[in-house]
Amino acid sequence: MRFAYADPPYFGCGKSHYGEHHPEAAVWDDQQAHLDLIARLCDEYPDGWALSCNPRDLAWLLPACPDDVRVAAWCKTWHQIRPTTTQFAWEPVIWRTSAKDNKRSPMIRDWMACAVTRQRGLKGVKPRDFNRWVLDLLAFREGDTLDDIFPGTGGMSLVLAEPPLPAEAVHEDDAEPLWESA
Ligand SMILES: C[S@@+](CC[C@H](N)C(=O)[O-])C[C@H]1O[C@@H](n2cnc3c(N)ncnc32)[C@H](O)[C@@H]1O
Repeated sequence: MRFAYADPPYFGCGKSHYGEHHPEAAVWDDQQAHLDLIARLCDEYPDGWALSCNPRDLAWLLPACPDDVRVAAWCKTWHQIRPTTTQFAWEPVIWRTSAKDNKRSPMIRDWMACAVTRQRGLKGVKPRDFNRWVLDLLAFREGDTLDDIFPGTGGMSLVLAEPPLPAEAVHEDDAEPLWESA
């Protein structure tokens, strides 16, 4: 399987957050660049992809996605406190994968919670546990590849270099379930 993870500058944050890091950061201040990215992910990565985005932008990003995408939630246990009526403390990951593993153990949820990173010299650096979870959402296994389209500080490549999960997932069929099947 050949997957991609895309963590572009969020819409409206291109020039302001990343202008000093990339000469074409301002393109992400145009919605069309984000819609083109979704089209590219679908064309070039039919096995699966994941895209981080701002919850505010789901309303116009999701209609550009195929019907089989899901939305997962990264809930931030530590985050910047802003002078807003409600604190914005989660980020969506839009994802799709053709990898199947219905008996994975441990199970993977479509949400995870961890703190944001701090003082990395770049805004929006993803924590190690987040990157691991993105691979798990895709059901990434030994022998698969993943292109990190916006590597930034390179955290995803460090996780990719960690010992891979085996191609055959370890199933614990006899384990006591912690939930009831529907
Ligand atoms: C949200 S950050 C990615 C953070 C990364 N996932 C990490 O954990 O370090 C977005 C990255 O996209 C880069 N970038 C900005 N404009 C770009 C462009 N036009 N093409 C490619 N990369 C760009 C920025 O410099 C920044 O490194």
